[in-house]
Amino acid sequence: MRKRFVIGNWKLNGGLAANAALLDKINLGVGINAGKTEAGDQSKSCGVCVPSIYLAQVQHQLADGFVDWGAQDVSRFAAGAYTGEVSAKMTAEFGCRYTIVGHSERRAVFGDSDAAVAEKFGNAKNAGLAPILCVGETLEERIAGRTEIIIMRQLRAITDKFGGAGLDGVILAYEPVWAIGTGKTATPAEAEAVHAFLRAEISKFDLEIAANIPILYGGSVKKSNATELFAMPNIDGGLIGGASLVAEEFLGIWHAL
Ligand code: 13P
Repeated sequence: MRKRFVIGNWKLNGGLAANAALLDKINLGVGINAGKTEAGDQSKSCGVCVPSIYLAQVQHQLADGFVDWGAQDVSRFAAGAYTGEVSAKMTAEFGCRYTIVGHSERRAVFGDSDAAVAEKFGNAKNAGLAPILCVGETLEERIAGRTEIIIMRQLRAITDKFGGAGLDGVILAYEPVWAIGTGKTATPAEAEAVHAFLRAEISKFDLEIAANIPILYGGSVKKSNATELFAMPNIDGGLIGGASLVAEEFLGIWHAL
């Protein structure tokens, strides 16, 4: 059975006091109903990806709980004269289990190319982090019928460099750009079709990896639509933006998993 995840992506949001209050509530809510507390059930996991500057705070506050944490991005470089960057290894020192790479906001706003995403992916793996690799098409690309071409280009940037075996231990996230922060969620059927396609393509590399790789959906997931999305056979949880900043919403999504 592959593992299921609900992971928050705080993006450029937070503050010391607000984080502390939010983490307290999440820690408590997840602690009470955590899969982990039920006789060795490791089949699902809750986490938050926070701005790197807050990793020390999050590590301190979540260390004894059931919620994992990760970074939202890492440098494509391992070390050196790269002002402003944070390396994968640095985030790993703060207990991160994973880091997002290739989020559409990084690709669109900060110019992360497929090649840069592949370098970040490699650095994450070298540091012992699970990459949460985001793929997804824009509205124009979907209307033009190019969804599969786009997400395969994004996936191939990884498999061309690391082989199919490079997807071992990875979390994949399908995040249609048109559904991010828009309130417009892909229907469960629309998302499931893309997830099933991704899994079928990955099975051409490796059947076992395809069976085990968690594929999360991201894009306007709320507690009101999480249950129907998570009921789809190839949707293994969600990557949550806006709703991860509101404890009650985020916990509602977690309980829908
Ligand atoms: P929203 O949930 O705010 O649409 O964001 C999704 C996302 O980008 C998660 O990485």
